[in-house]
Amino acid sequence: MVDIHNHVLPDVDDGADSVETSLEMLRRAQAEGVEAAVLTPHFKPEDDQEKAELHQQRFAQLQEAVTGAGILVQLFLGAEVGFRFGLAEAAGWPGIALAGSRYVLVDMPPGPLPGGLEKGMFELRTAGFRPILGHPERHRQLTGDERQLARLREQELLFQIDAGSLTGRFGQRTQAAARLLAERGWVEFVASDGHNLEKRPLALQSARQWVEETLGAAEAQLLFVDNPWRLVRGESVACREGRAGGAARRPVAKRRQGWLSRLLGTWR
Ligand SMILES: [Fe+2]
Repeated sequence: MVDIHNHVLPDVDDGADSVETSLEMLRRAQAEGVEAAVLTPHFKPEDDQEKAELHQQRFAQLQEAVTGAGILVQLFLGAEVGFRFGLAEAAGWPGIALAGSRYVLVDMPPGPLPGGLEKGMFELRTAGFRPILGHPERHRQLTGDERQLARLREQELLFQIDAGSLTGRFGQRTQAAARLLAERGWVEFVASDGHNLEKRPLALQSARQWVEETLGAAEAQLLFVDNPWRLVRGESVACREGRAGGAARRPVAKRRQGWLSRLLGTWR
């Protein structure tokens, strides 16, 4: 497996607090079958190129420690970029796009959806990047607005959901949203979003098991292995309208509205 979203890079955000913690997170990840990881520290809307340079320095230091410790997880650098004005410009700074590819992991602020969301994503795409929305299932306003979700999918925005969301780490509502998105075929990647050793570990296996049991081995292979490997190799990852062969093949806008809103209504 390849984990494309985590906070293993030490001492730069609310993730790993030391090199030792980073190493232990990677050891445990390796033990459960993670072969590569794209490290994605938070890159806040107010952060500038100096912060990106700090990430690169820390990455080089960590890489050395990982090699010294005999850990075999292959490391790449990227960032979890907070939605901002000038997103396309920041995406071009060294160390921001995922593993030097054209894929950019975008995080939306909690609360009301930012004005200019679709325009910002359009600009990013026009500049030649492929935006990936980080954990949309955890964004209450977004999961409560199915038409907005559908519009983002029509813009070919890729979705990454958190492994912990599928397994219930963030509560029932988020779990239901994550599972619905996965069942709908609106997920391209599942990642750990691991921050530490205990509460939010770099763990993928239980989520993979749920996908395997519920959606099949081929889907699990796609979300945990094939798509993330394509990303780190700079190859293309297809944005799916819906699960192959199912009713979801119809154009998104023409679908009956409210499937997600209705089901999530229970937790409103
Ligand atoms: Fe994150």
